[in-house]
Amino acid sequence: MNEKFENILVNITENPSGLNVGLIEINRPKAKNALNTETMTEIVSVLESFDKDKTIGSTVITGSKDAFSAGADIKEMAVANSTDMYIKDQFAIWDKLRKIKKPFIAAASGYTLGGGFELALACDILVASETTKFAFPEVTLGVIPGAGGTQRLTHAVGKGKAMEMILSGKFMTAKEMFDAGLVTILTAEDNYLNDSLELAKKIASYPSIAIQLGKESVLKALDLTVDEGIEFERKNFYLLFSTEDKFEGMNAFIEKRKPEWKHK
Ligand code: CAA
Repeated sequence: MNEKFENILVNITENPSGLNVGLIEINRPKAKNALNTETMTEIVSVLESFDKDKTIGSTVITGSKDAFSAGADIKEMAVANSTDMYIKDQFAIWDKLRKIKKPFIAAASGYTLGGGFELALACDILVASETTKFAFPEVTLGVIPGAGGTQRLTHAVGKGKAMEMILSGKFMTAKEMFDAGLVTILTAEDNYLNDSLELAKKIASYPSIAIQLGKESVLKALDLTVDEGIEFERKNFYLLFSTEDKFEGMNAFIEKRKPEWKHK
């Protein structure tokens, strides 16, 4: 990745056991990694380019130990009225996250607040260090989460806890969010990034089309009835029977050898 970004650092981690892993680090330390429009635009453009890059299988998005992100940029929004927000449609960029096909993992630590929490919720898997602090402090600013938080948190932890967090602005520990089923891996502060990269490498070691259709099918479960979801899953399952990797995977099992994935 040769492109220079103002607000993020981008790296690619080699993966000897499969496709490589992209790493996006939010890099606005002076603003606790607040997500202004430019930062979100950069994150989305990198995810889109990784989606097109055949050498990459998955991505980790992280911040710093101190702050994954303290939310949308309050200074950017402070003078805006509702007409300004409607015309600018500042959060439209967030919709593009839903179109990313390859999995992306949040590696969170420290403040994971407001829009930062929403970015973590928009990731496919959430890994958190023990020092992560989750909250929706929007009510303290006279607003509510505006980048999907009311919906994704409710789906993830249920109505009661979502109401508590969104209506009271209460800070939750990583352990509380792990117990609520939102955090998938709870790990020491020294390990959260490495553990996220290891998980991303594991995912990137499997056939990319199966991984992408698996992700798509799980996400559909949030939108469809069980019947519709099972139909959707089955079509994706049958679709995989046209991939070279399906024949390679099943033949390798029968021949008792390691499969050689082509990702096609
Ligand atoms: N936007 C813009 N700047 C922010 C910011 C944010 N969300 N969070 C922190 N900063 C800035 C501060 O203004 C400060 O800048 P200056 O040095 O220029 O004053 C700098 O980052 C350091 O912050 P603090 O001095 O406040 O650091 P702290 O350690 O005392 O406190 C904190 C850290 C608890 C995270 C505190 O900064 C804070 O409460 N931040 C705001 C959290 C918040 O309300 N997030 C929700 C935003 S709204 C939203 O996200 C809407 C949505 O749904 C998309």
